[in-house]
Amino acid sequence: MCAPPDRIRILFVCLGNICRSPTAEVVFRAAVQRAGLGPRLQVDSAGTGEWHTGSPPDYRAIAHAAKRGYDLKPLRARQVSIADFDRFHWILAMDGSNLDHLQAMRPPDFGGHLGLFLELAPQLELREVPDPYDGGPEGFERMLDLIERGSEAFAAKLVESLAR
Ligand code: 4NP
Repeated sequence: MCAPPDRIRILFVCLGNICRSPTAEVVFRAAVQRAGLGPRLQVDSAGTGEWHTGSPPDYRAIAHAAKRGYDLKPLRARQVSIADFDRFHWILAMDGSNLDHLQAMRPPDFGGHLGLFLELAPQLELREVPDPYDGGPEGFERMLDLIERGSEAFAAKLVESLAR
C-alpha cells in the first residue's frame, strides 16, 4: 500500500496575528473544505510581532467574521519563527511590510513559496490586505471581502494543481 502524500502546509502571516492572518486561516480553511481539499492541507497563522502571543483574535475580527459564519474564537496568536520555514510549503504575507520581515528571516535553503497572499488572486489587482486594527468597522468588512475572494482564488489554484 502506498503511503498517503504529505499534507500541503500553508501559513498566513500578518503583524499581530489577531486580525488578518487568523481571519485568513479560518476563511481559507472553509474554502478548501468546500473545494474538497480539507484533508490534504494543514493551515495555520502567525504574526511577525510578539505582543499578542497567546491572545485570542481581536474582538472586532471575531464579531465581523461571526456575521459571515466563521468562528475565530478558538484561535490563539503566536509569533512566526524560523522553524516555520521547515514546516510550511506556502508562507503568505498580508502586506509588504510583513513580507519584508519574512524575507529577512528566510533561510537560504527554503524551497517553498514565500509571497503576498493577494498575488494569488491577480484578478483583484491588489497586493495587500490593509491592516484594519486602527480603523472602523468598514476596515474589518473590507478585510473579510478581500480574504474571502483571495481564499477562493487560492483554493481554485490548488484544486487545479493537485488535479494535474
Ligand atoms: P493584524 O492587525 O496584523 O492584522 O493582526 C494588527 C493587530 C495588532 C496591531 C497591529 C495590527 N498592534 O499594533 O498591536
